[in-house]
Amino acid sequence: MPNIISASQFNKSEIEKILSRAKAVEESVQNGNVNQLLKNKIIACVFFEPSTRTRLSFETAALKLGAQVISAENAMENSSAHKGETIEDTTKILCSYADVVVIRHPAVGTLEKAAKVATKPLINAGDGNNQHPTQGLLDLYTIKKEHGRLDNLNIGFGGDLLNSRTLKSLVPLLRLYEGNKFYFISPKELQLPREFVKDLKDQGVLLEELRSLEEKLPELDVLYMTRVQKERFTNPIDYEKVKDLFVLKKEHLRNMKKNAIIMHPLPKINEIELEVDSDPRAAYFRQAQNGLYIRMVLLLYVLGL
Ligand code: CP
Repeated sequence: MPNIISASQFNKSEIEKILSRAKAVEESVQNGNVNQLLKNKIIACVFFEPSTRTRLSFETAALKLGAQVISAENAMENSSAHKGETIEDTTKILCSYADVVVIRHPAVGTLEKAAKVATKPLINAGDGNNQHPTQGLLDLYTIKKEHGRLDNLNIGFGGDLLNSRTLKSLVPLLRLYEGNKFYFISPKELQLPREFVKDLKDQGVLLEELRSLEEKLPELDVLYMTRVQKERFTNPIDYEKVKDLFVLKKEHLRNMKKNAIIMHPLPKINEIELEVDSDPRAAYFRQAQNGLYIRMVLLLYVLGL
């Protein structure tokens, strides 16, 4: 039974199949002729953390494919987790109702715990600051669509890298392709965990860590901005100190390549000036749209369809 827990679980051949199918699915959505392959299936979307894109794109994906959806949002308050039910018991119950269970949870490792008792495929929709594999795949699909390739790219990540589960999902996917170089740009307080950087270096991944957003802008093919994640700070004063340190401004765009793209998993708060949205290189709304096609494919993938 295939679960989707971590981006690292995919090999290059599986990734290529997923991306190629996403293209076909996208065309079928655009043409209005989606095959109802999930007719009579039920998809459960249970979110213990807030979400706009992930939950609603999974639900849209399920509905487009003919499935029905059961859903719990704000599940920390509105499910029996509030009364102290364990994730294992919740998972057993969800698996007795639905054919696929999609879970987002603030605690790192929740999906691994749930997978030990699951009798239906599970999909990780984000666990704390650890993994968001479906976002990693939709980001990869976006880069492929925008640049026409996934290799020999200079990719800069800016902002709160410490807490970015989307970075930790996208980098393991991109490192499977030749010649990619990563620039990790953040204040020291929000730098990547040391063990994550060490693992990449041990694997021979080309990378640099930087403190200034401006320095490498002219070299980047992809600038992936991230939000400073207020909800992960225990001390609000620490958040206030770093929240506005990295802001992509319209004036920065002059120094970027004409065919570079600006990505962001969204939601964005202050880290990208509003004027940037209208630049054709701002790819983040197209990126969010791509989530629908990738999630349609991933629902089919876990069901072996
Ligand atoms: N990118 C992303 O995970 O967005 P949501 O938090 O709105 O689902």
